[in-house]
This record gives sequence, C-alpha cells and structure tokens, in this order.
Amino acid sequence: MQLIIKNAKLRNLETLMSIGIDRGKIMAIDHHIDADAEKVIDAKGHLVLPPFIDPHLHLDAVLSVGDPRFNESGTLLEGIQIWGERKPFLTKEILKKNAIEAIKWEVANGALKIRTHADTTDPTLLTVESLLEVKEEMKELVDLQIVAFPQDGIFTTKEGLDLMKRSLEMGVDVVGGIPHNEFTREDGVKDVETVFELAEKFDALIDIHVDETGDDQSRFVEVMAKETINRGWQGRVTASHTTAMHNYNNDYAFKLIGILKRAEMNMITNPFDNSVLQNRTDGYPRKRGHTRVDELLAREVNVSIGHDSIMDPWYPMGKGSILQAANLLLHTAHMSGYSQVSQLIDMITDNSAKTMNLAEGYGIKVGNQADLIILDATSEFDAIRLMSECLYVIRKGNIVSVAHPATRMLNFGGELRNIDFKL
Ligand code: FE2
Repeated sequence: MQLIIKNAKLRNLETLMSIGIDRGKIMAIDHHIDADAEKVIDAKGHLVLPPFIDPHLHLDAVLSVGDPRFNESGTLLEGIQIWGERKPFLTKEILKKNAIEAIKWEVANGALKIRTHADTTDPTLLTVESLLEVKEEMKELVDLQIVAFPQDGIFTTKEGLDLMKRSLEMGVDVVGGIPHNEFTREDGVKDVETVFELAEKFDALIDIHVDETGDDQSRFVEVMAKETINRGWQGRVTASHTTAMHNYNNDYAFKLIGILKRAEMNMITNPFDNSVLQNRTDGYPRKRGHTRVDELLAREVNVSIGHDSIMDPWYPMGKGSILQAANLLLHTAHMSGYSQVSQLIDMITDNSAKTMNLAEGYGIKVGNQADLIILDATSEFDAIRLMSECLYVIRKGNIVSVAHPATRMLNFGGELRNIDFKL
C-alpha cells in the first residue's frame, strides 16, 4: 500500500477504522488492514472527512484589500466601485500570484475543490485568461471550476454579452449572471434568460449571483427556477447569495422554496461577505443578509457554504477556511441545534460536491480517489466549535499539507498543562 491511515474516526461510525490507499485510490476501509505500507499515519481517533469544498470564491480579487483603498462604508456597492478602480491596474502577474497564494491557504485548510468566479466585464478578459492558467498550473493540488461572472451586469454596457461569449469560448466551465445589478427589472430577467441560453449553447453549468441585496422586491431567483423547470435543466443550476430572501414576506418565501425544490436548485450562502455587506441601510433593528438556510434545508433544498472573499474590497478578513465560514453560519443562521452541526459539515462537503456536479467519486469510499483530511478534532461538533486545523490534507494518496497545532503551556500553581480547548 502507498499509505495506511489507522484509528480514523469516520462520520456515523462508532468504531475507529483503517483506510488503505494505493496508486492514489482508496483500496480498503476496515477495522484492521494487514498489509505493508510505505507510510502509516495514526489518526489517533481524529475525525477523517472527505476534503472540504469551496463552491464560491472570487480568486481574481483575493488578497487585494486596501489596494487602491479600503471599503469604508462596508457596502457591496463601494466594494464594486473599488474593484472597478483596481481593474485598470491589474496585471496577469499580480492576479495569478494572489490567486495561487489563496488556493494554497484553502488547501492547507482542507479544500481540494474550488469554484471561482472570474469577472468578465473588463474588455481584456485578463481575469479569465489568468484564472484559466492558474487552473492548469494548480491542477495537481486542486480541482478548479471557473464561472464567467459579469460583475457589472451583462446589459449595462454594449460589449457585456460579447465578453461573456468570449469567456465561454476560452473554456470556462460555468455561466454566471447578476440580474439584480442590471439597470431595470426587465434587463434583470433578460440577464437570467441569457445565462440559460449560453449554458445550453456551451453545455455549461449555471451559477448566478442573484438577489444579493436587502431589497425585498428583488425576485430574480424565481425567474431562475422557472427557466430551470421549463428547460429541464434541473440539478445543473445554482443560485448564489439570494440574501433578499431573508427579507421576503413569509407567504412568498414559502411558495418560492417549493418552486426551488421542484427545480432542484442548488443554493450557496456566503456567511462572511453577507454578514457585513447587506442591510447596511437598515438603521436599527439591523437584519443580516443571509438567505433562509434553515427553511431551505428543512424542505430538502440543497444548500452549501461558500467563502466568497478572502481579503478583498468586499470582505477584508478571512484565511481561506470554509470551516470557519460554517462556524459563522451556525451563529448567524441559528443553526446551533445539535443535529444542525452535522448539517453544517454536510454543507461544506457532500452538498457542495452536488452543487459543483462532482458528487460522483467524492467521499471516503473504496474505489474513490484518495482525497481526504484529518482534522484536529474527534467529533463534528468539535470540528465546528474549534474551527479545527487540518492535521493532514491528502490528495491522490499524497500528503499535501501537514499542521502542527500550537501548544500552550499554562502554569497554575506550579503545574504545567497544555491547553488545547478540548474536554
Ligand atoms: Fe460572490
């Protein structure tokens, strides 16, 4: 065997297991594996999960916070404005350097599949070109999907649609849109319809930034659901953000969630950005810009969690940890019920795999590619609570990242004890 991991705590199994890996694949999962191995890792009862997935990131903007200036109002619109000021000065070298660095942060935090958006509204399409190169250069480390994302709208400029088409011809995987950012409701509907037409033409998946506003009149996700059902595009369509749903009246939201379920839509919530960007004009009481995560999950709509930004004009914080995003969502979406902790783990693993149409071959099963992580926690509850480090990140059976958690020796009454925040 290439690698044996023993004493692994797997989800929903009480007894610790061994995982045998050879030629990059999981060959055996058993109580004990009696075979020679080039390397043995003793997981010591730590939680072993399939790798995390980040289904929503903007790798063209990462690590740019403060350049050319910081977002003082904290709003989405000032963020878009600052990004617009930065765009003319972007170079391929800077774009790729920042994107590659952020990918390394995400991988060290356990994410081996990432869907990134690439802004298509700059006529040079430098962002698309750079991220396509990053995808190729980083393919040994991470599976990258790229979305053609019209940040400023498809119909707010004459060349918007042509730039989307060119991006798809260049080889991006997913068609994006931004209907709430078009000038009118009518243009917003046209934005959604155009995305579906392009997706059919290029046989691509769909992931639209939709209703990312506190405006309760922003209702483009219903248009997406209708197009999905009418065109038989179920399972291939993702609605990102949908923060306006937070503010919809309950009767409308109830009806809408039923249609989303029928359309088999994938929903992505982005706790970091949307906890700071939306509802900035509320005064008090201050609502928060999250979609209705618990209601969607309760009605079996697929919901996953994205990181969205890492240190950019929209969100100045972040270290590429989707586990930290799940911890934040536990608070902001009222998901602290014990069984909901397990749902949060689903949302950063299996649900995201479904969203990215990568569910086949994903997971800790015999025959699958040997991609997995060993967390510094013995339970899902502790993984979320501690936002645990990944002790090991393993891809195709190779160790790609190792962490040595800090030791904190507390001296109390002459007795030294390592404080690791575990019971
Ligand atoms: Fe986004």
